[in-house]
Amino acid sequence: MREPDMQKLDALVGRLVGDVGAAMSGALVVLGDQVGIYKAMADGTPMSVQDLAKKTGIKERYLREWLSAQAAADYVAYDEKTDRFSLTPEQAMVFAEENSPAFFVGAFEVVQSMWMDEPKVADAFRTGKGLGWHEHSTCLFRGTERFFRPGYNSHLVNEWIPALGGVEEKLKTGASVADVGCGHGASTILMAQAYPASRFTGFDYHGPSIERAKAAAKDAGVSDRVTFEQGSAAEFPGRGYDMVAMFDCLHDMGDPVGAGRHVKETLGPNGTWLIVEPFAHDHLKDNLNPVGRVYYGASTMICTPASLSQEVGLGLGAQAGEMKLRKVALDAGFTHFRRATETPFNMVFEVRA
Ligand SMILES: C[S@@+](CC[C@H](N)C(=O)[O-])C[C@H]1O[C@@H](n2cnc3c(N)ncnc32)[C@H](O)[C@@H]1O
Repeated sequence: MREPDMQKLDALVGRLVGDVGAAMSGALVVLGDQVGIYKAMADGTPMSVQDLAKKTGIKERYLREWLSAQAAADYVAYDEKTDRFSLTPEQAMVFAEENSPAFFVGAFEVVQSMWMDEPKVADAFRTGKGLGWHEHSTCLFRGTERFFRPGYNSHLVNEWIPALGGVEEKLKTGASVADVGCGHGASTILMAQAYPASRFTGFDYHGPSIERAKAAAKDAGVSDRVTFEQGSAAEFPGRGYDMVAMFDCLHDMGDPVGAGRHVKETLGPNGTWLIVEPFAHDHLKDNLNPVGRVYYGASTMICTPASLSQEVGLGLGAQAGEMKLRKVALDAGFTHFRRATETPFNMVFEVRA
């Protein structure tokens, strides 16, 4: 064993205590969401363990332990004088309010899938084979929808579409749009709600996601202008689209260049390929930060194996960065590639022939 620097070791171990606590808290977040504790605390009323047990039907002893762990994580507020627990407005936004722009529980469900599917990813590491999106646990599909939807609610209609030259006008007057790799259809349905004169088709190769998206469109009352069909990025049907959108999925594909070539064939004159990808800089050293940590983690366990499971297996990864994404678009035959806008979590590209 090499001689450690004890100060550095102490600092590292100190950080790991925090990280292990965070990992364990993640399981408790998923649990609290599933059994309805956060939602029962959503209005911020300080509650005793007994109050909460009555409201949720959960055994007091379990609740006290869960609440203690959550208070230690600072995910729940605790008042020692009254022995009551509550959610601050900010804690309610991230844990209890499904439609808030900061709702975070979906992210923990994605993490849950990473733990559950770790043995499959370990096999993929050993064999070099891929692991398809469809081979993951269901919590990944649900978690992705719940994790990404708040960002789409906040930015898609208000910022991203207006940042694309001429697209908003077309959508308002009546355009035809394909949302490829649409998953549960959160982005498709949101656009359909915002632009009732336009027609939207969501495609995804994953059948169960398409079934879920169909049900969600029905619930949202937009089935008249949205359809969902199982289809891959290389072969989805239709011609003359005013916009083909890909939200957080191009890097998951094995052959993003082939997908781009197909997009080019399906776009009408002046059509736009909208690519939304995770925010990343072009060089690893610039991505070594908390956001990069999250994305590289998901990329290792989910996105890169997904891409390697498909034909070509380019394996862009979730931190591809603008330079590599631009190359994909140019290799697919497009000549115009512009970063239209960005958030701390996403880059939004406008691509044209
Ligand atoms: C990270 S999820 C994003 C889902 C959705 N766009 C969203 O933002 O919620 C990636 C999606 O890409 C889909 N996908 C991966 N490869 C695909 C391909 N070659 N053709 C079509 N869909 C694909 C997966 O099934 C999955 O639903």
